[in-house]
Amino acid sequence: MNYMVSDTPGVESVDNDIMPINGTDYIELYVSNAKQAAYYYKAAFGFQSLAHAGLETGIKDRESYVVIQDKIRLIFTSPLNSNTEIGKHIDKHGDGVKVNALWVDDATYAYEEAVKRGARSYMEPTTESDEDGQVVRSGIYTYGEVVHIFVERKDYSGVFLPGYSKWEPRFEAPTTGLKYVDHMVGNVELGDMNKWVKFYEDVLGFKQILSFDDKDISTEYTALMSKVMSNGNGRIKFPINEPAEGLKKSQVDEYLDFYEGAGVQHVAMATDNIIETVTNLRDRGVEFLNIPDTYYASLLDRVGEIDEDLAPLKELGILVDRDDEGYLLQIFTKTVNPRPTMFFEIIQRKGATSFGKGNFKALFEAIEREQDLRGTL
Ligand code: FE2
Repeated sequence: MNYMVSDTPGVESVDNDIMPINGTDYIELYVSNAKQAAYYYKAAFGFQSLAHAGLETGIKDRESYVVIQDKIRLIFTSPLNSNTEIGKHIDKHGDGVKVNALWVDDATYAYEEAVKRGARSYMEPTTESDEDGQVVRSGIYTYGEVVHIFVERKDYSGVFLPGYSKWEPRFEAPTTGLKYVDHMVGNVELGDMNKWVKFYEDVLGFKQILSFDDKDISTEYTALMSKVMSNGNGRIKFPINEPAEGLKKSQVDEYLDFYEGAGVQHVAMATDNIIETVTNLRDRGVEFLNIPDTYYASLLDRVGEIDEDLAPLKELGILVDRDDEGYLLQIFTKTVNPRPTMFFEIIQRKGATSFGKGNFKALFEAIEREQDLRGTL
């Protein structure tokens, strides 16, 4: 299937797309300390301050900080009282992704179509407005406690959403070249992968573009299976993983144990210059998985000629893979929370539209070394 990875605004016309989506609108994480989390993502990842909601803006039960880097918007939200839905989410899962918001032209249509096709409602179409116009949002549940919120913002010119004020603190850090959300991966329980594949097909009209079984994704010890779902124009890609039988506990099992259920495993953010971006991120304290030197000894035999010098890739631990359409460079952070759950991927695509299958073995062996240190392998 032909699909494109695009960060350009505007919608390609895709025939028979029942659910036109312009792109990722924002990703919201429920965290125990939104103020400090926002600072970390600014200082370490180079996000910029965008918007704030809380007591000062008339919100009584929560505080949210919104940060932005090019097209990526992250919200960090914490509760202001005990016994809240957000607090319970954090108690059960630790910090994690609650919302993957999808930018649409018509949030009422998206909601009605999705619910008609079997989605469970999270939020009926709701219009919020302020002096900058109005936004319509609606929402449906997906795996675990994660939700998709449809955001219709064509009649809005404000800084983020009604209810948020511009956040202009004194501290800003330089950006690191992160540009857009390339894909977001979910971990689901054993036997549930196909259920959620069907959910994305039935409810949102997504297509399965790739599939990996335990033979593709296994090491001596652990295995997992994965299918990649894409929307019509290819801007939204959701790989879905489930654990597979192995000699030892797989990373997906470890995630499910510590997250106490299905949830978002990683968010991949794209850059145009991965060497510069990762050098920058490492200098600011972002920790990445260590890749053994042996990976680089045979790299060029496997992927052929690439534009980059091998030395900085090896120095930084950047992985390379090639498919029929080109190649890609990618690297994975260590988990970013106290619980070994969520992490980030930095990816640069040079034609390749796949997800680095050739790197899975090296990558999972690196993850197993981390698991071994935690005693959870
Ligand atoms: Fe990924």
